[in-house]
Amino acid sequence: MRYDTPSLTRWPAPGGSGASDSSFGYVSAQGAPLVELLDPRPGERVLDLGCGTGALTSEIHSRGAEVLGIDGSAAMIEKALAHYPGLDFIIGDGHDFSVAEPYDAVFSNAALHWMSKDPSAVIANVRDALRPGGRFVAELGGAGNCAAMIAAMSTAWREYGLREPELPWFFPTPAEYATRLEQGGFAVRLLEYFDRPTPLDECPDGAADWVRVFGAPLLEGLPPDLVDPLLRRVNELAAPALRRETGWMADYVRLRFAAVRR
Ligand code: BEZ
Repeated sequence: MRYDTPSLTRWPAPGGSGASDSSFGYVSAQGAPLVELLDPRPGERVLDLGCGTGALTSEIHSRGAEVLGIDGSAAMIEKALAHYPGLDFIIGDGHDFSVAEPYDAVFSNAALHWMSKDPSAVIANVRDALRPGGRFVAELGGAGNCAAMIAAMSTAWREYGLREPELPWFFPTPAEYATRLEQGGFAVRLLEYFDRPTPLDECPDGAADWVRVFGAPLLEGLPPDLVDPLLRRVNELAAPALRRETGWMADYVRLRFAAVRR
């Protein structure tokens, strides 16, 4: 698909890519340092890949940049258009997009790990969307992301006689992602890999709620009356690692980078 035409803001939905963002405010709130790293300048053209409901797209716009938000989920784009009617958003997939006019920067927060089919193809599309010297600034889940959450899910699935869940995410090591970036035509300027325990303030039912939102594709097709007991078991198994006195905490691990198109 070719993008760049702001009037194409209501394309037919190709189907969502999953919860690349959500009404969960912390996803955007924790993206603020990434906007600082992007350091958008007035008049720059920025593409926000996996923009979710558009909170960070709007933040980038408020710094004076011209910004286009793209997300694979029609529902997210609908919310983004409703929240920020003056901004440009379109439905699109990182695996399949091109632009008519090159951008100065591509930005992506908490979305690249959903584009798991062919991460190098996504990087190639980003490269082609940038002018030489253009920046690719992003954060995604890194290796070990949600390890305790995923272990609890795998055990619960097994105990209920279900096949091991096929995870829809890509959580690379820093070395693996740096290699992909370099092979894809980028010079890596900064790469950080760090734990970021994240309070699940909007998940009163803890890990079970997290799975309901972010693991929704894994629940599709399960017998409906199995879901509640299965997720109760996820909570029991995850609690020792993820439940604190103050509430539930997701074991997020982040990979944050800034790279420049050669
Ligand atoms: C993350 O931001 O790390 C994440 C969000 C949803 C599913 C998996 C990982």
